[in-house]
Amino acid sequence: MTLPDHGISPARRAGRTAAWFDGWRLTVATTLTVAALSAWLAGMGGFEIDGIRLAVRFTARASLVLFCLAFAASALARLWPAAAARWLRRNRRYLGLSFAGSHAVHPIAIVAFAATAPLAFRAATSPASFIFGGLGYAFIVAMAATSFDAAAARIGPRAWRLLHTSGIYYLWFQFMVSFGERIPAMPNHAWFLLPLLAVMALRVVAALRGRRAREATP
Ligand code: HEM
Repeated sequence: MTLPDHGISPARRAGRTAAWFDGWRLTVATTLTVAALSAWLAGMGGFEIDGIRLAVRFTARASLVLFCLAFAASALARLWPAAAARWLRRNRRYLGLSFAGSHAVHPIAIVAFAATAPLAFRAATSPASFIFGGLGYAFIVAMAATSFDAAAARIGPRAWRLLHTSGIYYLWFQFMVSFGERIPAMPNHAWFLLPLLAVMALRVVAALRGRRAREATP
């Protein structure tokens, strides 16, 4: 079946579809989807420990995907400037905010876990989870709050760069540790390290190429 095009070219129509899923719509849609799926997973288990624990893990995994997309966006666009990579780079800020939105659901599920099964919660956490996880959240909040032009201008480009660079590498490290520490009990968690290592490799290769290109320019 052919849909009437109302005089709009396919390229323009494709552009419109892409534009619809740009910016804030992307952030709101991904955050609401993560929240709805987490509630559904918890509800499937009757809001008991297993379902809630599934929701905690799901929020961490959804955040991993969004984090990796934001982390790799610029490097991908530099190495392979295809339409998809350019879309990622254009929406880097909103993917970062989507990660923050998805990771805002993580503590909600964590509180539900602590309330329904305090003993299992104590066994699944340690003081280190709160210290390093808390630092992770401090970075997420500070980075999300300075993702707006006015706030970024207020702290200045140097402080902005310092905050966002140290924050993004800290969060990468935290994902590596959080998945890595579960490998002895659940060996399949090793698979989650692959996207993290891949996006780091992409950034390193893109940085090296960029430096070589700058050195070759007279
Ligand atoms: C105070 C802050 C935090 C607390 C108390 C916390 C607590 C938890 C708990 C209780 C679990 C589930 C453990 C289980 O079911 O065995 C979990 C899983 C996880 N969390 Fe957090 N978390 C925090 C912050 C973070 C942050 C900032 C990140 C990442 C940047 C993160 C990444 C993860 C990952 C990757 C998992 C494993 C998911 C899986 O098993 O697939 N957490 N967290």
